[in-house]
Amino acid sequence: MKSLNGKINVPGDKSISHRAVLMALLTDGKCVVYNWLFSMDTLRSLNAVILLGAETDYLNGALTISRGDFPTTKAVAIDCGNSGTTARLLCGLIAGSSASATLYGDDSLSARPMLRVVKPLQKLGATISGGPTLPLTVSGGIQGGKIEMEVASAQVKSALLLTGKGVELTNCGGSRDHTERLLKLMGADIEWDAETVNIKSGTLNPFEITVPGDPSSAAFFLCAAAMIPDSRVTVGNMLLSESRIGFLRVLESMGANVEMTITDDSWETVGDVTVSYSRLKPFDICAKQVPSLIDELPMLALIATQADGISTVKGAEELRVKESDRITTTVDSLKLLGADIEETADGFIVTGPTPLKADAEKLCANGDHRLVMMLSMAGQTALDDKDCVDVSFPDFYERLENLRGKQCDF
Ligand code: S3P
Repeated sequence: MKSLNGKINVPGDKSISHRAVLMALLTDGKCVVYNWLFSMDTLRSLNAVILLGAETDYLNGALTISRGDFPTTKAVAIDCGNSGTTARLLCGLIAGSSASATLYGDDSLSARPMLRVVKPLQKLGATISGGPTLPLTVSGGIQGGKIEMEVASAQVKSALLLTGKGVELTNCGGSRDHTERLLKLMGADIEWDAETVNIKSGTLNPFEITVPGDPSSAAFFLCAAAMIPDSRVTVGNMLLSESRIGFLRVLESMGANVEMTITDDSWETVGDVTVSYSRLKPFDICAKQVPSLIDELPMLALIATQADGISTVKGAEELRVKESDRITTTVDSLKLLGADIEETADGFIVTGPTPLKADAEKLCANGDHRLVMMLSMAGQTALDDKDCVDVSFPDFYERLENLRGKQCDF
């Protein structure tokens, strides 16, 4: 693995970019978004709001979204592609609107569970047919009410908040709170903590925001810098919300050199992060930590292969229903590289350090963007599905080659 050195910015946060375009439909008036992430996933949400009547424009780095009239004559067909966030958040948005829509997606998304969002919305009065997976047809009729969450999922929590009704949510499990923060910025009467959210229905104001850099994209470079000798990487203007930087907290516990400087602490916390190489201790990750680092677990598995001792991940069964079964795909691919890693029902056990093969054969990332990026950080070039990085991080390979100090050759 070649060392990485330099300072980069990463593209805008994917979770906030989805929310920015979808939540613009909760307000009259023009919303303006800078540093919006243009990726395959977020474009699914942008396309959805256009199909739901919004007018959008992109000029000088500003994406503007103005709500139009929701189409009411027939159900709108919306292709959510590979994007679970688009599909799940749309369920709530449409259930609270005068529109109805049929949501469908690609093979991976069509295999992912949707009842976690369908059931609570139906409990609040939404009419939804189909399931347990996509396609689903959703229409309104929803009222406010109380819901005890069954999964610690920000997507399900956000679907309920995007109905625009008064809701009280309990048992939220510390999932990311970007929806709550944006609703507060829009003037909502909302209170929340790690476990509960309480919002009253009311008029919401338009917003103007700059999307901070995505920590889930930055994690590939920052974790690699901790693991590869002679590396030092700085990521500027990155989202530093505690609900998203669990991977930095794990790096700190491993003895990595991590420096964080907060540059803005308004509606979201933003700052610069530098990580440099050091010898790493192993980690033990438990269920409570999982929501704050769920998308970073494949990359954390990779760095565990270079730590001195046994690392464990428990309580991460949610990984099995991501874009691929990320427990099996992570374990199987790292084994092909020569890692000492075992699958468990809800995570994995890694014993390090082990040398990893540069060009492993028969590697397959199952079209999962985060697996492809993790394997690329491990120096693998023989991957069939490199294009799928476009789902979240279209410039990934350019950034990687800049930090490696040579031209991109694929
Ligand atoms: C997301 C929440 C997480 C995360 C996904 C994006 C979001 O999923 O894995 O990549 O934007 O709300 P869950 O909330 O379903 O765990």
